[in-house]
This record gives sequence, structure tokens and C-alpha cells, in this order.
Amino acid sequence: MCGIVGYLGPLNPKDVIMQGLKKLEYRGYDSAGLAILQDGNTKLVKATGKLQALEDRIKNETWTGHVGIGHTRWATHGVPSERNAHPHKVHGITLVHNGIIENYHEIKEGLLARGAQIASDTDSELVAHLVAEEFERVKDLKTAVERVLPKLVGAFSIVVLCEQSPNELIAFKDGPPLVVGLGKNENFVASDVQALIKYTQEFIYLNDREIVKLLADKVQLFSSHGVPIERKSVTLNWSPELTEKQGFAHFMLKEIHEQPRTVATAVQTHLCGDRVVLNRVGFLDKNYFEHRDSIDVEKDWENTQRILQGIERVFIIACGTSFYAGNIAKYFIEKIAQLPVEIDIASEFRYRDPVVPKNSLVMTISQSGETADTLAAIRLAKERGATTLSLCNVKNSSIDRFADGHLYMNAGPEIGVASTKAFTATIAMLNVFALGLGQIRKTLSPDEEKNFVMSLRSVPSKMEVVLSYDKYFLAAANSLKDFRGFLFMGRGTNFPIAMEGALKLKELAYLHAEGYAAGEMKHGPIALIDERMAVVMVAPRDSYFEKTVSNIEEVKARGGYIISLGSGDDHALKRISKMYLPIPSSDWLTNPILFVIPLQLMAYHLSSVLGYDVDQPRNLAKSVTVE
Ligand code: M6R
Repeated sequence: MCGIVGYLGPLNPKDVIMQGLKKLEYRGYDSAGLAILQDGNTKLVKATGKLQALEDRIKNETWTGHVGIGHTRWATHGVPSERNAHPHKVHGITLVHNGIIENYHEIKEGLLARGAQIASDTDSELVAHLVAEEFERVKDLKTAVERVLPKLVGAFSIVVLCEQSPNELIAFKDGPPLVVGLGKNENFVASDVQALIKYTQEFIYLNDREIVKLLADKVQLFSSHGVPIERKSVTLNWSPELTEKQGFAHFMLKEIHEQPRTVATAVQTHLCGDRVVLNRVGFLDKNYFEHRDSIDVEKDWENTQRILQGIERVFIIACGTSFYAGNIAKYFIEKIAQLPVEIDIASEFRYRDPVVPKNSLVMTISQSGETADTLAAIRLAKERGATTLSLCNVKNSSIDRFADGHLYMNAGPEIGVASTKAFTATIAMLNVFALGLGQIRKTLSPDEEKNFVMSLRSVPSKMEVVLSYDKYFLAAANSLKDFRGFLFMGRGTNFPIAMEGALKLKELAYLHAEGYAAGEMKHGPIALIDERMAVVMVAPRDSYFEKTVSNIEEVKARGGYIISLGSGDDHALKRISKMYLPIPSSDWLTNPILFVIPLQLMAYHLSSVLGYDVDQPRNLAKSVTVE
């Protein structure tokens, strides 16, 4: 949460920082600010609300200068207000911070006892005081930061600007991501490469407890003890257009429409003729990040087979939408590869003292690769002896770099705070993973594998068809706008889809919705049903169909408003539902990819109809880097 940008170089820092912050607004949007050094003086401006408020405030400023920092905030300590917005300035030291300082009270008491004047309610300002105190003593910004680092407990990434040392920026981190962008006579630092790809494609990713000193013509990396570190930069080939709306009203809508392509991209490296190949996983390969793009595919595939043959249990750990995708994988893996699967919410797993038997594979799923609880969970799993595998969208993210093996969603930047294309790419990758496991464990016949591969290859064109039915989903959303209670239900792999549909409605339209296994209906939720309750039933023609139809009859008998989603022109569902939404027929493995799209679009339309901010729903942030 929170986005940070820093710049040193010949361009106008105000422009570079504001451009960068726009790309990072998905990380937090309750206030923003920037600080620029001009002739040895810090120009500091902050505003509450979205970045636009800051932009309006500085539009007539004609600052010069060559160095500055900026921040977009998601509040942790202290309400969203100008006072609490970043940057925080103490004497000549100004800084921006992403994360949480857990020993905040202790630091504050110490500072107050030493006579410090504290101006905000934030933990971040306290760090500025500590750096200012140390700078006063040592007169060197990097040394001052080195002396402050051991005093901080928590998860943080911080960039510091100093009036007395105007040609440098010092950044350091322990937890939330920070990446350095390398330019010619200019250098950058930011929470995410998206902020910088307009300016550079060459990056250095910082590891925890590292300090970086940025000058316009040089970048130096150090350990927390000041020992120099050599690290090769990584070149990305991203086009800046990937982070634009490209004519769509919202990023979320663009991302929903990208899904046929992103699902095809996600699976294509792992399909070879009629077979699935779990290649390029890089299990236990120490140099993986250096030769990922030129990896010896044959050798890697052999290594992956050897490791997966020895696995006796799979754990899947994630948060939010990624957790619901993981729930679907339990059905895939248990049926296809006949391995027991446990699925956990990361924040529960990490604090539960879980039993991780030997020969366990712990797979984490995370779009951002930075979710604090998921990162802590994978650390714990490794400590307990598991082989770890990450499925991330953001390559080189903290979770990706920590894991023993690496799979990717390859969905491209996801900017809408509500996850859509990462979810469908994840399901597609989990299809691939379950098929690969089944093949390796010989629980899947070549004929079955061939049929599933054909189905995976055909799913993008079926997704196009679903998207072309959007007018029906809009009509469904309009019919729902006056309901205040929603139940989403399904059985089997459609149960997690129902949970995901309910989550989308909650986060986008602020409506109370619950996702339930339809078989649980009579164990409580049926009491909620009357004519004010809308029920969305996910009911493809699969092995659960007849039972789901019975549940719909039970809802109907109690006056509930039923929208059902089924396979093709399903007369049985049409007859018993108020509204029926047809989805192209597919098999149980790929149905979830198709059936979630109408739920995404219905939530999108409801949010728009109700006048909410689709891309930046209240109280949320795209990557949850604090627990
Ligand atoms: O980046 P991650 O996949 O680890 O994020 C997990 C959740 O925070 C995320 O899926 C969240 O639930 C989204 N807002 C869902 O739309």
C-alpha cells in the first residue's frame, strides 16, 4: 500500500514524479504529496483525496531543481489528512514511506523525551526525526540511514531527500517493494516498475535490508551495514501502452476485455501439441533470475518432474481473489492428480502453527507478489521444510524471488484494484498445473490430457463470446440495483466462483453479498430468502447440475429473485429463473474461467450505475503490503 517515486536528473522532477504517481495511484489514494529541492530549499506540497487534488494544487508552480520525491497514501497510522500526508519534513530531511513501523510508540516516546516536535499522527514522520538526529551527528545521509535502520521494527520502504546533501537520494527497505530505474545521467526509484517504464526499461530490484544511494550518474547498493553490493540490472520489454486505458472507460473494463488474450498467453508456454509441459519452473535453481529467459528447457522439465514426483501433499496459500482461485485448484488437483490439497488464507496459515508434513509442496498465489501475509506464509512453509512454488503475475516480486519454483500468470500489468484478468489467468495456470501433476504422477491418461488441452486451447474464443453478451449482463446489473442483499451460490468449482462474484460486488458496489456452496443453503442462508433477496446461481451443465436446479426451486418457492447462469440455451434454468444468462458450453475444468466473466461485468456495471469509483474503490489498495 502507498506508492513512492523519487527522481534525480535533468528533467523537471515535478513532471516525472506526478507521472509516476499516476501509475501508482492504485496502491493508495487517500492523499498525496511531493517534495522538490530548489536552490537548497524544499518545496513541499500535499493534498488530501485523490492525486487530482495535488495536481490542481501544483499546476501553476514553475519549480526548477533536479531532485524530488512523491507519495500517494493508503492510511495506516493517522487519518487521511494533509497533516498526515507524505512527504514528512524534519529540519532539512524529507522522506516518503510505505509500510508500518511497529515500534512506533517506543520511538515516539524516545523522541518526545529528547524534545522533538511531532507534527503528524504518522509513524513515518518519526523516521524523519530519527534520520535528522543521526544526520546532525554524522553529516552523511547514507551513514545516518545506516544508523537508523536497526532502530526500526516493521515493514517499510523509504526514500530520503536532504537539503544539506542535494545531489543524492537514499532509499532503503525491509518489506514492501522498491525498485531502482537506471537512466542516462538520471536515476529513479519507485514502488513499482509501472511508475518508471515511460522513462527506462532497466531496473535493479532491492532486497530486504539493503540501502541504495542514487546520484544522477551513479547508483550504489549497500547492505544494511554499509558493505557495497554488486547486482546486475534486469531489462524489461514492456511498452508504456500496457499501463494505459486504451479507450476503455476504466482499467477494470479494459482488463476484463483483455482476458481472452491473457488466458491464451498464460497457458501457451506450457502447451506443446496435445500435452502439457511444466517447464521453466526453475525449481531450486540459484541462478534462475539471471537466466530465466534462456533457461535450458529440457533440463528444467526433468528437474521439475523429479521434484513433483516426490510430492505427497499440496498446500495452496493466498489472500482475497487469489485465495478463491486456489480453492478451485483443490478440485482440479485432487481429481486429476489424486493428491490431497489443503487450502489456506495466508493470514491464518502464518499464525496457526501449521503441520507441514515432509514431501509437501506449498504453492502461493499472488497477483502482486508482494502481499505481506502471503510472503510471511511462504517463509514459514520453507522454514518447515516444504518445497515452495509461487504463482505470481509480477515477475521479480518479493514472493517470486523467495520461492523455490516459479510459475507466472503473464497477464500484464493489472491496474484496476479489483482483480479480474489475473484471476482468470490464475485459473488457467492452475488447470495447467493440475494436468502437469496428473501427467507426472500418471493419474491422467494421454487421451484425457489431449481433451483437456483442446479445451484449454478453445477457451479464449469462448471467452470472446461471453464478452459479446455484455448487454445481458448490463441488463442483469440494472435489475439488481435496488436489492440490498445478495447470495451467490454454486457447487464444486462454481462454489469459489460464487465467492469471487460476491467479493467483486462487495468491493466495487459496496453491497452486502455472500458466496455460498449451494449445498449449504439449507443449513442457514435459506432463512434470508424472501422477495428482497437476490440470488445469483452459477449452474453449468456439470455433474452437480440437477442438485443445483433443486436449490433454485427452493429459492423460487420462497420468493427470492433468481438470476441463473448456465451452459448454452438451458430451458430448465430459463423456466425457473427471473433472468437467465447463457454461457458457452465447456467442460468442468474450464467452466470457471467462463462463468466468472459475467460476475465481473455485473459488479462493474452495478458500481458504475451506482456512481462509484470502479478503478479505485474506497478503503482498498491494489497490493496489501502490510498485514
Ligand atoms: O496480489 P495478491 O493476489 O496477493 O492480492 C490478494 C488480494 O489482496 C486481492 O486479490 C484482493 O482481494 C483484490 N482486491 C480482489 O479484487
